Amino acid sequence: MMGFLVRAEIPVIGSGSKFFGRVTISGGENIRIGRNVNVGERVVLSARGGILAIDDGCILLNGVEIESSGTIRIGLGSTLNNDVAIKGAGIYFGEKVWVARNCIVEGTDVQIADRVIFGPFVHVNDGTHRIDPRTSEILMEPGEFKSIRIGENAWIGSGAMILGGVTIGPGAIVGARSVVTKDVPAFCVAVGNPAKVIKNRLTGEKEGDEKQ
Ligand SMILES: CC(C)(COP(=O)(O)OP(=O)(O)OC[C@H]1O[C@@H](n2cnc3c(N)ncnc32)[C@H](O)[C@@H]1OP(=O)(O)O)[C@@H](O)C(=O)NCCC(=O)NCCS
Repeated sequence: MMGFLVRAEIPVIGSGSKFFGRVTISGGENIRIGRNVNVGERVVLSARGGILAIDDGCILLNGVEIESSGTIRIGLGSTLNNDVAIKGAGIYFGEKVWVARNCIVEGTDVQIADRVIFGPFVHVNDGTHRIDPRTSEILMEPGEFKSIRIGENAWIGSGAMILGGVTIGPGAIVGARSVVTKDVPAFCVAVGNPAKVIKNRLTGEKEGDEKQ
């Protein structure tokens, strides 16, 4: 192990894992880092209020921040690029998920399946504020959360926002900068704000094509 850990609570760390700079740990007793995990500089891992599991072979590049208040799991061989931030509870990444730089994943119930790709600056957030018209301070309204599911092999383009309650099917594609407010079926391509399905990758059928 190179680099060094700040704070005393030492997590369980598997053999072959390497730290390439200063890493800040809090709630280390709730953190499990698997084997052959590579951790870059300025990484912050916090699990005071929950559990954080980083499976074998994961790569956490510089500036990654993960704060668990429930359970967060980063699946086997996944890569979190520079400055990715993951915060909340009930957040599960499958195997070999690729998260490009500066993505944010926040929530209470977010499941991202195997081999999903996030372009840079994707934002996944399953929460919103109630917007009761009688309340002037939205900050005082309770948060509302709706599950997010992203199916295997889906590709979420750069800068897209995925809102609560959305399921993105396996093999689906979300265009760059799209705002996804409704489900995207498996193998469909959805673009825009709000994102609309424009085609089906498997059948080649485009939205608006005449149906026989
Ligand atoms: C969605 C995407 C994959 C292209 O899919 P495609 O099926 O080849 O789509 P086309 O290029 O044929 O475009 C189809 C229509 O959607 C529109 N469109 C494509 N991408 C769009 C986007 N991100 N937002 C809004 N509209 C988009 C096109 O302008 C075109 O509109 P038109 O029919 O009115 O001319 C691509 O545009 C994209 O957004 N890729 C993500 C790139 C990225 O994030 N890279 C980072 C590296 S991971």
